[in-house]
Amino acid sequence: MKTDNLPRFHLAEMNTPLEKMHKLAADLGGPGLLIKRDDLTGLAMGGNKIRKLEFLIGDALSRGADAVITAGGAQSNHCRLTAAAAVRAGLGCELVLSGSPPDLPNGNLLLDHLFGACVTWCSRDEREAQMESVAEALRTKGKKPYVIPVGGSNEIGTVGYVLAIEELMHQLSEKRLSADYVVVASSSGGTQAGLTLGADVYGYSGKILGISIDQVKTGESAFPPVMARIAKATADRIGTTCELHEKDFLLNCDYLGAGYAIPGDREREAIEMTSRLEGILLGPVYTGRAMGGLIDLVRKGFFKPDETVVFWHTGGTPELFAYNHEFL
Ligand SMILES: Cc1ncc(COP(=O)(O)O)c(C=O)c1O
Repeated sequence: MKTDNLPRFHLAEMNTPLEKMHKLAADLGGPGLLIKRDDLTGLAMGGNKIRKLEFLIGDALSRGADAVITAGGAQSNHCRLTAAAAVRAGLGCELVLSGSPPDLPNGNLLLDHLFGACVTWCSRDEREAQMESVAEALRTKGKKPYVIPVGGSNEIGTVGYVLAIEELMHQLSEKRLSADYVVVASSSGGTQAGLTLGADVYGYSGKILGISIDQVKTGESAFPPVMARIAKATADRIGTTCELHEKDFLLNCDYLGAGYAIPGDREREAIEMTSRLEGILLGPVYTGRAMGGLIDLVRKGFFKPDETVVFWHTGGTPELFAYNHEFL
């Protein structure tokens, strides 16, 4: 496997902590629970996108780019972290956000402004085309823009999560622990695709289980095939073979609730339990939903009592400040 020669720009504080969640596990009375703290990746309130951005920003710099463009929702963690990473790398940053500008920016959007990103608003369907027109406008001014896809989920960013599973395996072995499952929030798919590919490459014996935040399994954009494609392209990039098929990407789509970025009782309960029992914050959009799913699966007896589950905390805590009304 060739990852040492890939362009990379240092952003993340690794290794992120691997901690036990004794009190939550005791409260639920189920399997052992660990948490992998990628909310502590170090830059700008942390999160999973930093591991991807190390490779994406590295690639942008190696191609002589002077600005990055990406897209997401108004409270996108990926956009906030891309803006912060661009500042670190000395690049301009253009964000294409879906929706309309609120009167008073808060949460991630407030941070986008603090990092000096230029924001363009459009509908969700127009994001791709809008990124291209922003890029074209920059090119006509003599700039060299670099477009990062939504969520950073391509074969470049995903390498970060192939390597992350080796970090986890090393930490487990140092602590003389083993883990039967990794549970992770899944949306644009790169994080889960990377972890699943990494598990295959490094021989991790547990299962990677995605909790879908917004994607459904059936229909035109059937989701595991997307992950299978990302994993295959990533394997090609790092010079390894990928024997993974759609069925190898375990995705639970039972926790979509009222829809993307609409938290409900499950997310609220998960956030309150994790805060009050473990002193750990989750975000209402991604990690609150994924933890809500994990808690429900424990209560349903999906995991055996003698198993151990790692919750991979992918960050998103700044979302909390845009959802304060949910917690009053
Ligand atoms: C906090 C958080 N967790 C999980 C995810 C999902 O990661 P991926 O898009 O790689 O599936 C995201 C994506 O934006 C996120 O912001």
